[in-house]
Amino acid sequence: MSGAGEEFQVVTRKKWMARKCLSRRNRHKSESDYLNDCPDVNVDHFQARLERLCGEMSQSDYFILSMDTLQQHLDMLKRPLERIVCLGLGPFTRTHQALHQAAFIMSAQRQHNIKEALYYDPVFRETEKELIQRLNGTIIAEDRAGRHEANVSTLYYLPHCPYALMHNLLWCNWSSESLANVFLISNSFEMLTLNRTLSKTRIPNDHIARITAHCTEAPLEDDYEHNNVFNDLSLHSFPSDKLPAVDDEVFWTRCAPLNVHEDELQTELNMEAEMAALSLGS
Ligand SMILES: C[S@@+](CC[C@H](N)C(=O)[O-])C[C@H]1O[C@@H](n2cnc3c(N)ncnc32)[C@H](O)[C@@H]1O
Repeated sequence: MSGAGEEFQVVTRKKWMARKCLSRRNRHKSESDYLNDCPDVNVDHFQARLERLCGEMSQSDYFILSMDTLQQHLDMLKRPLERIVCLGLGPFTRTHQALHQAAFIMSAQRQHNIKEALYYDPVFRETEKELIQRLNGTIIAEDRAGRHEANVSTLYYLPHCPYALMHNLLWCNWSSESLANVFLISNSFEMLTLNRTLSKTRIPNDHIARITAHCTEAPLEDDYEHNNVFNDLSLHSFPSDKLPAVDDEVFWTRCAPLNVHEDELQTELNMEAEMAALSLGS
């Protein structure tokens, strides 16, 4: 594979962190400072790089197997794919994870000949928005915090996204007719539910915890040549014969949507508490 990461490696993340964080004054410098400091890319050059990467992606075993899995789920629910919604892709001109994920979803759009591919991430720069538009995508104008209705069969691509986005997506489509249109690639629901139970951050009865036993989850085996890009992702679909009966009021009564930042803050607070407990214990 050609060095898909070179464009944003003028100053590598490691070098940047080392340079900025050496002095006591800059100790608070973080990943987001690195992303803000990254110089803008040349859109024409980057488009050519992204096109090349899409070509390579569509030949990769990971992509081919993932598309086979998606096709099996579409066949099971007897519907063609009509739309793509991609949330939380990340700053794909600045991190290699987001770049390879961009190539994945853009290649899926081509493979299924999808006209409507919608994207939202609050971190997108103007150059990133322009690149998406050049590659036949549309930027969603406002932050709906994951509340995107599936009125046609839709592939939702939410790689490594905040829990609240998946919760709110389910919240918004909480009926067996709408869920039948949802094909969701995100972190594995089984793992999310297990991790939340273990770390005691589980919200009782939230939509992910509630649906996990009733959805079809297919792990997308990560044999991709770059690590930490496609790890822990699964395809989830929601055939109605696995869902509780429509008159099961307890199951079908919606709980509250989650605030994305509140949820992240809660997780951060829990992590801080765990770190404090660990350092006290050592
Ligand atoms: C952990 S990062 C994942 C980035 C990338 N997909 C990856 O795997 O490296 C989560 C992403 O969710 C995005 N995000 C946060 N709130 C969002 C919202 N309301 N709608 C869409 N994306 C959001 C963040 O900006 C960030 O890029």
